[in-house]
Amino acid sequence: MAKTKIIGPFSQLLTMDTIPLKGSVNDSQLEIIPNGGVVVSEGVILRTGIFDQLCSEFHDLEIDRIEKDMVAMPGMIDPHTHICWAGSRAKDYSLRLEGKSYLEIAQSGGGIGDTVAKTRAASATKLEALLTERATNHLLNGITSIEVKSGYCLNTEGEIKMLEVIRNVNQKLPVDLISNCLAAHIKPADFEGTSTEYLKIIIGELLPEVIKRKLSKRVDIYIDKGAFSVDEARVYLNCAKNLGFDLAIHGEQFTAGGVSLACELGALSVDHLEMVQDHEIHVLATSFVIPIALPGASLGLGCQFAPARKLLDAGCSLAIGSDWNPGSAPMGDLLTQTAILGIFEKMTMAESLAGITFRAAAALGLTDRGVLRIGLLADMIGFPTSDYREILYNQGSLKPSMVWKRGEKVSERI
Ligand code: NIG
Ligand code: FE
Repeated sequence: MAKTKIIGPFSQLLTMDTIPLKGSVNDSQLEIIPNGGVVVSEGVILRTGIFDQLCSEFHDLEIDRIEKDMVAMPGMIDPHTHICWAGSRAKDYSLRLEGKSYLEIAQSGGGIGDTVAKTRAASATKLEALLTERATNHLLNGITSIEVKSGYCLNTEGEIKMLEVIRNVNQKLPVDLISNCLAAHIKPADFEGTSTEYLKIIIGELLPEVIKRKLSKRVDIYIDKGAFSVDEARVYLNCAKNLGFDLAIHGEQFTAGGVSLACELGALSVDHLEMVQDHEIHVLATSFVIPIALPGASLGLGCQFAPARKLLDAGCSLAIGSDWNPGSAPMGDLLTQTAILGIFEKMTMAESLAGITFRAAAALGLTDRGVLRIGLLADMIGFPTSDYREILYNQGSLKPSMVWKRGEKVSERI
């Protein structure tokens, strides 16, 4: 690990500090340090402040000097992806353009089942290469922590293969991959029993193995028509919780259900929410569950966005994830999607940026990142501009020109 150094000067240092975890936020609440700098030691932030003052206070330190205009902020955090998959669902997309629905395509041989067949058939080496490419792409675009779900093998052996691939790529790349066991994505076509029997096998066979091999601390389930019911999910998630897993739920995407259960069980997050109703928004606002909007799925399916403005005004937190997957959300560009959600839902820049930094960290139960603050990880990104507003104004076309992970520069675009 590198020694202590000062990074700067930045035209603006956007710390994302002092913003509440829940509710609406004004841009005037953003802490912006002009001509800012960061002192980094052993991958952690030792101090933030005015660059010149830091240089006089820590006069014997090495300086990682920024020669051009640059706005620095915390590395982005993508709290919801499915980027470990093989194959393509371009055919599904063309069928959607012809007017077929996601459910109709799934029922006629496409959908998640198609990706399951291809991901089962792919070797671990092949899957590692595919995941490495996607995770590297995300890192170069400024995403320094990525949640990655399993859920495209749907049997014990295959789900372990996926989670081991995620672990191996995490060890190889400087980006942090946080795994999530989504064996309860759908009941696979070749499973002959009921959904309840399928979930029992995951609980009895797969989850103990995940614990034994330390492959994930998180469990997710997809509640919807064509997936699992709220009652099935309640039994399953209670068992997972008793085994010590943190919980996430895919809920309210096409049909209602998921929010109340997430609140009842104290899940970390409930994700999608395109169909969430007003009464559920109010339940969510009184809880610690973080809603995650997935604008990439709305764009990939051509359907409404989660009601971000309503959620924030009701007092909810709001994280934003890319949902990057081969079916509903093939784009994978978190910053572009955040900018688009922001302009349609009239979110302030502060709310949008909070959604992909510390509010996203909270959705993953992580308290060590997402804000540039003393003692937290020095995961930072720098945009080639002198005004932070350019970041969302450019709607994702302005990419970070520098990325630091734990204080180490991992990418620089000239
Ligand atoms: O979050 N809706 C459920 N799961 C994913 C889609 C996965 C797929 O279509 O392959 C989602 O949108
Ligand atoms: Fe998803």
